[in-house]
Amino acid sequence: MKDLIARRAAQIEASGIRRIFDLAATLKDPINLSIGQPDFDVPDPVKDAAVAAIKGGFNRYTPSGGIPELRARVLAKYEADHGVKMEDCFVASGVSGALTLALLALVNPGDEVLVPDPYFVSYTHLTTMCGGVPVYYDTYPDFRVDAAKVEALVTPKTKLILAMSPGNPTGACMDEDSKKALADLARRKGLALVSDEIYELFTYGPRGRSLASYYPEGSVVLGGLSKTAAMTGWRVGWALGARHLIDAMLKLQQFTFVCAPSFAQKAALAAFDADLSAAVPAYEAKRDRMLEGLRAAGYEAVTPGGAFYLFVKTPAKYAHGTAFVEEAVRRELLLVPGGVFSRRDTHFRISYAAPDERLARALEIFKALAR
Ligand SMILES: Cc1ncc(COP(=O)(O)O)c(C=O)c1O
Repeated sequence: MKDLIARRAAQIEASGIRRIFDLAATLKDPINLSIGQPDFDVPDPVKDAAVAAIKGGFNRYTPSGGIPELRARVLAKYEADHGVKMEDCFVASGVSGALTLALLALVNPGDEVLVPDPYFVSYTHLTTMCGGVPVYYDTYPDFRVDAAKVEALVTPKTKLILAMSPGNPTGACMDEDSKKALADLARRKGLALVSDEIYELFTYGPRGRSLASYYPEGSVVLGGLSKTAAMTGWRVGWALGARHLIDAMLKLQQFTFVCAPSFAQKAALAAFDADLSAAVPAYEAKRDRMLEGLRAAGYEAVTPGGAFYLFVKTPAKYAHGTAFVEEAVRRELLLVPGGVFSRRDTHFRISYAAPDERLARALEIFKALAR
């Protein structure tokens, strides 16, 4: 038989992380710090709204862009939080859905996409899926974005800049000067700017303004409820931006995702009414305890300003992040090697969105691994 698999699927390499998953599958009750989602459950009023929507028969297609009440809430909240009015928005199937549509709408084959390194894994795969070429802007060792370094990578083929704050896997937050400089670069060069702000709620200092608010006419902001309301399985996200960009994405949504899940859109309205911030100080305390314990054991890590990850340098006695993580998994501690998120494999990612007792046990294992 002919090889039926298209290059866009065949070229995706999943083997690095698969070895870790295979190892992990042999464990009964590992300490799992590899998961990118909160350890709290969806708030009760949000669950109640979802159940009421389903029982009340709100189970059909919604308009492709989402229910008008939710679109209005998303636009109004952005304006209230950042002081800038975005022209339009639509509701997507998670930030992943919005990101897929943003790249499909903006990237032609051969276009270059500036991607931060370390990156969220989907950035590279979605870029290549659209025929684009990822060009990486390095943010090691402190994970700050230096617009001058990004500018040096711009060519006539550059189409857009991807950025995130707070970031995954580093938790790094862009400061206001970096945001202004990056937005200014995109404006001067006539590039699109896609700003992934999914971890916005989990910011442990002053939140500052949205990166896209410095360049609203050329930006797409991505946000959603997967992390903030722990609704990872419900698939609600959104994109805001200039009308012509949103229109292009929405046209593609009609023929791909169709709409975000109907009941989850109703529940999202309840999430807007709920106070979701309770977990934030608790996660900040977890971050501090983990950093203190890791540093006492000799690990090097930058203090992240947000999200719920630590991106820690692999101790010198291990050849690379993967070797360290394989040893951790043998000791029943699940982590993700830095090479999954980067062209280098010098670090590992910890998700500290886990119960304190598990984090304390993890610290004991980290101590043993560093000895
Ligand atoms: C930076 C970043 N962007 C986007 C996503 C995808 O989010 P969603 O569940 O809304 O598709 C994640 C999930 O881990 C993420 O870390």
